[in-house]
This record gives sequence, C-alpha cells and structure tokens, in this order.
Amino acid sequence: MDNPRHYFLWDARSFLLCSVVFSFLELSLCCPKECSCEHLLVNCTDRQLEEFPSGIPMDTRQLILTHNNLTYLPSVDLNLLIDLVYLDCSHNILGNSLEATFIAMPLVYLDLSHNNITKITSATFYLLTSLVVLKLSDNPNLEEIEKDAFANNTGLRQLDLSRTALTYLDVTTVSELPSLRTLGLSSNPWDCYCPLKDLLKWVMESDIYFTELRKREHNQIQPKSSRLVDDDIIVLGSVTSM
Ligand SMILES: *[C@@H]1O[C@H](CO)[C@@H](O)[C@H](O)[C@H]1NC(C)=O
Ligand SMILES: *[C@@H]1O[C@H](CO)[C@@H](O)[C@H](O)[C@H]1NC(C)=O
Ligand SMILES: *[C@@H]1O[C@H](CO)[C@@H](O)[C@H](O)[C@H]1NC(C)=O
Ligand SMILES: *[C@@H]1O[C@H](CO)[C@@H](O)[C@H](O)[C@H]1NC(C)=O
Repeated sequence: MDNPRHYFLWDARSFLLCSVVFSFLELSLCCPKECSCEHLLVNCTDRQLEEFPSGIPMDTRQLILTHNNLTYLPSVDLNLLIDLVYLDCSHNILGNSLEATFIAMPLVYLDLSHNNITKITSATFYLLTSLVVLKLSDNPNLEEIEKDAFANNTGLRQLDLSRTALTYLDVTTVSELPSLRTLGLSSNPWDCYCPLKDLLKWVMESDIYFTELRKREHNQIQPKSSRLVDDDIIVLGSVTSM
C-alpha cells in the first residue's frame, strides 16, 4: 500500500487521464481570440475583423460575424463547420456573388444583409437545401439575381431583397418557392414598377381614342398607331407619386 512505486504508477495514470480529459476540454473550449464562445455559439460581433477568424470550434452551431470588415468568406474554413445552422455575416463588405462559398453546411438561417454583394447566381445557394431564412437586403450594388437562384432552397420561408440595386426579378424566382411566407422587395429601383402599368398596357393595346390624355409637351397619345414612348411612361408614372 505504502509502496512508493505504486504511488508513482497511480500518478502516471491519473496524469495521463487528466491530459486526455484536458485535451478534450481544450478541443471543445477553444475559441478564436477575437470572439466569445459559449454553448456552441461563437460571437465575433464588431471586432473590425478583416479576415475570417481562425480556430472556430468545429462543432459550432451558431456563428455571428456581424459588424466587421470581412471582404470574403474562405470556403474551406467555413465548410469545416459541418454543424453550422445559423450564420450572421450582416454589416460587412462581402462582395461578388459568393459562388462556391457555401457547400457542406446545414444552414437554416443566413444573414448577408448590409454587404456589397453584386450578383446572386444559380450556384450561390444551390447546396443550402435546409435554408429557411435568407436576408440579402441593403446590398446597394446587388444588380442581378439569376432566375433559378433559389431553385434548390425549397424550404425558404423568409426572403428579404429590400434596398438593393435590383431593377428586375423574374417572377418564377420567387413564385415557385413552395414554403415562402415573407418576401421583402421594397425600395428597389424597379424598372416600370408602377400601379399604372396595367393601364398603360391597356392604353397601348386599346382601340379607344383618348382625348384628354396628353403627353407632357404636345403630342396626343395615339394608342396602337404610335406606341407610347418611354417619355410617356415616365410622365404617367410620375402621376402615381402625386
Ligand atoms: C454578441 O456580442 C455582442 C457584443 O459583443 C452582444 O451585443 C450580442 O448580444 C451578442 N449576441 C449573442 C447572440 O450573444
Ligand atoms: C472597418 O470599417 C469601419 C466602418 O465600416 C471603419 O470605420 C474602419 O476604419 C474599418 N477598419 C479597418 C481596420 O479597416
Ligand atoms: C463594392 O462593390 C463595388 C462594385 O464591385 C466596388 O466598386 C466598390 O469598391 C465596393 N465597395 C466596397 C466598400 O468594397
Ligand atoms: C440541388 O442540389 C443538388 C445537391 O443537393 C444538386 O445536385 C443539384 O444540382 C441542385 N439543383 C440545382 C437546380 O441547383
């Protein structure tokens, strides 16, 4: 019992055990120095980050990178986070189309609002088949969303495209999303988005002679024979804002 050799053995074993336990703890407790971590949530809010933080635990489920200066998301690092369901990258300066950025994550919530994304292609989100909430609002240079950009995101319930540079959106891009409940489209520079559009279409196709409907300067609108030119549409369009 009092054999020193016995004590030594016990110590060696407990030391080993401790090291193993400690390694495990370290593995799950490690946290990027710029961030705070707790319960599978890594929070790196407002740290002036210009690079994606390294050392994010691989079992992270929620990652918050809002209010930083990230210009891109490194696909390899990001896709190591195979349990990530919630990603907030709002208020950064992410650019381009983010193609090939999101590959292997089961993301349900993705916030990319307030960035500098210019285009969404059919290859941007096509592997995010679990997506339920997608925020793309306030990307002032977002000019194009390809027709089948969300074709694979059939679980999408909330989509925000407000305050971008979109002038056009093919109706099937959103009309064929079976789960969609909330759609933000406000404050975009839509081309010919005005409630008079249907009236104008009818005016152009009608045989009726419109006596009072005059162009700003002189010419009377002559439906069918002389089609409405862009000027007319602008004049009529401005009526709606009065
Ligand atoms: C993340 O951290 C910021 C400030 O550091 C805090 O305001 C915010 O509530 C945190 N978010 C969560 C989900 O814990
Ligand atoms: C990060 O962006 C903020 C505002 O967007 C700016 O004031 C700050 O200088 C930038 N920081 C760096 C390190 O570029
Ligand atoms: C945003 O994107 C545009 C167009 O690609 C580019 O000219 C501009 O410099 C970008 N702005 C920032 C803050 O990165
Ligand atoms: C949808 O995702 C699957 C993989 O989950 C992929 O093979 C397929 O090409 C995608 N479809 C479209 C329209 O992107």
